[in-house]
Amino acid sequence: MSELPYKEVEVAGDKSSDVVWHQASVSHEQRVELNGHKPAVLWFTGLSGSGKSTVANAVDRMLHDLGCKTYVLDGDNIRHGLNGDLSFSDKDRIENIRRIGEVSKLFVDAGLLVSTAFISPFTQDREMVRQQLKQGEFIEVFIDTPIAVCEQRDPKGLYKKARAGEIKNFTGIDSAYELPENPEIHVKTAEISIKDCAEQVVNFLVDNGYVQSGTRNS
Ligand code: ADX
Repeated sequence: MSELPYKEVEVAGDKSSDVVWHQASVSHEQRVELNGHKPAVLWFTGLSGSGKSTVANAVDRMLHDLGCKTYVLDGDNIRHGLNGDLSFSDKDRIENIRRIGEVSKLFVDAGLLVSTAFISPFTQDREMVRQQLKQGEFIEVFIDTPIAVCEQRDPKGLYKKARAGEIKNFTGIDSAYELPENPEIHVKTAEISIKDCAEQVVNFLVDNGYVQSGTRNS
């Protein structure tokens, strides 16, 4: 871990010492009360092709149907916009996750259940986001799919390109993925259906009092 270039990544706080925080007129508690469920980040992590976005979107659908305020932040999409300036070097991956951590915090402040689908390969980055949130607001969801299965699925043809040396720093091939040690939810997509994977996540939220199960809209 010590080789990762954390010192090179500028921390947002460095430049904002003369900026004063403006107090919001609607409190976080009022937003949460209106929404009728607890807010949190469902932090999906796993290899490319593991099923993060697919499961996150299935969860999002179920939560929406339960009447929850939700949103999905997806690595491939965010890298077209907000993080369009970032590469897949270690330094830029750290910055990618730092920014998404900040955005997630805003969504949680707004009272939403936000799902993030980023490889987020480094333990230190995932823990950094966890530390920025209150107890219970960060839920790590490990989408645990063997690399052989991801490579066989290869939905975007990227493993093939990485094996051919056409893409450098590809996670699992020539860039590291550090396994989550203690995820709140451990999902094995190669063994159960997408629907069952999503239900595993939603059941965690119901069992732990984030969401009530009886308010389904459809
Ligand atoms: S992260 O490592 O910085 O968290 P992120 O989730 O934003 O990655 O983006 C991963 C997606 O970018 C993959 O699903 C894949 O489609 C695409 N991609 C392109 N190049 C790479 C690469 N070198 N390593 C991993 N994913 C890549």
